[in-house]
Amino acid sequence: MTDTLTGTAGSVPGYPMTRDAGCPFHPPATVRQLTAEAPVSKVRIWDGSLPWLVTRHADQRTLLTDPRISIDENLPGFPHMTRGRAEVAKVTPPLITNTDAPEHTRLRRMVNVPFTVKKVEALRPAIQQITDDLIDTMLAGPKPADLVTALGLPVPTLVISELMGVPYEDNEFFHHNSSVALSHGSSARQAQEASTALVGYLDGLIERKMTAPADDMLSELAARIKAGEMTRAEAATMGVAVLIAGHETSASMIPLGTLALLQHPDQLAVLRDTDDPKVVAAAVEELLRYLTIVHTGVRRIAREDIEIGGQVIRAGDGIIFDLSAANWDAEMFPEPERLDLGRSARLHQAFGYGPHQCLGQSLARVELQVVYSTLYRRVPTLRLAAPIDEIEFAFEGIAYSLRSLPVTW
Ligand code: HEM
Repeated sequence: MTDTLTGTAGSVPGYPMTRDAGCPFHPPATVRQLTAEAPVSKVRIWDGSLPWLVTRHADQRTLLTDPRISIDENLPGFPHMTRGRAEVAKVTPPLITNTDAPEHTRLRRMVNVPFTVKKVEALRPAIQQITDDLIDTMLAGPKPADLVTALGLPVPTLVISELMGVPYEDNEFFHHNSSVALSHGSSARQAQEASTALVGYLDGLIERKMTAPADDMLSELAARIKAGEMTRAEAATMGVAVLIAGHETSASMIPLGTLALLQHPDQLAVLRDTDDPKVVAAAVEELLRYLTIVHTGVRRIAREDIEIGGQVIRAGDGIIFDLSAANWDAEMFPEPERLDLGRSARLHQAFGYGPHQCLGQSLARVELQVVYSTLYRRVPTLRLAAPIDEIEFAFEGIAYSLRSLPVTW
């Protein structure tokens, strides 16, 4: 084992790590080496601190359900993603993304209904219609088309806007501010301003729903404010979290999945040639595993000393869970570098694990199932309109993505 992997001060790897040129879908080689050789080890993050990096699938499952770890971002030593996130955390009210049980359980119950499997399945026909309409528009337009703007971004944005009761016409405003709020490239001030703009925007929408409610999530939050169950600040911040998470993530999966499939034509053929929903569902799980778009790790802090993987994580130590490492852990997924839509990938951790596991996972699954099972069947000659090495990846957000994906047919 090399010195770099043992956590010796001064030689610990920096995190997040740069992906290897030529295979940007693959987790960095150093992360994969850590999984094999030092699955619980220290890394250095942007502020110079040394949180633990947990890479193995099994260790992540054990720790992410351990009540001795916390997601409270204001505990000293919390391994923030960026300086901007650290600043924003200081002024963020209690939210599902920064509270532990029992507060987390209470807050999550206030927003979970629209995201249950049953509610989301009821949206499938509408999601299909949105997808078909956007593909019609793309096919009627000029070639090449950019799959990010033609399909990737509008499908989840239209769906989450409708579900929440956010006007779709404002998408450029909220998309821009979401990107700035989360980007590693933003200064603390830029992140804070973008975050404040989004909270103000959601607060205004919720205020209107208090007098003119509709059948949507923001009206539900407005009703809870009136009932004294939550404050306006809590409701607006919750709205921001769901809006950001609800459109950025699937928006990145749609073009990335398409690029991965265009590079694996035998796998694309599996989706193109089937009308079996089970085959489509399994394919989506494998794409979620293979791509693991949340590439910067989910973050926690230890409240007590915890022994795991031959190490002792001390109370107050930061912990980062690298989800791509878990999803490429060969103990769990043999030959992880093989994109195999036929494998059983359902136990992947692309949506995290434990109490904070993705609230919108059923919605994301249906969006991806609809898009992937429609696009290649309707456009069987779909192909890249630029050399692969000219396709630009974006790694500055919580989820990595493509800046654009030129396609033709
Ligand atoms: C492919 C799409 C998606 C991926 C890969 C993804 C990934 C994740 C991950 C890894 C977490 C766990 C964070 C942690 O443990 O700290 C998470 C949480 C969350 N996700 Fe998603 N997500 C996706 C889509 C969505 C959608 C469509 C929504 C829409 C509503 C959403 C809303 C949320 C929320 C609100 C949380 C916080 C849950 C909590 O802390 O209790 N996500 N997501």
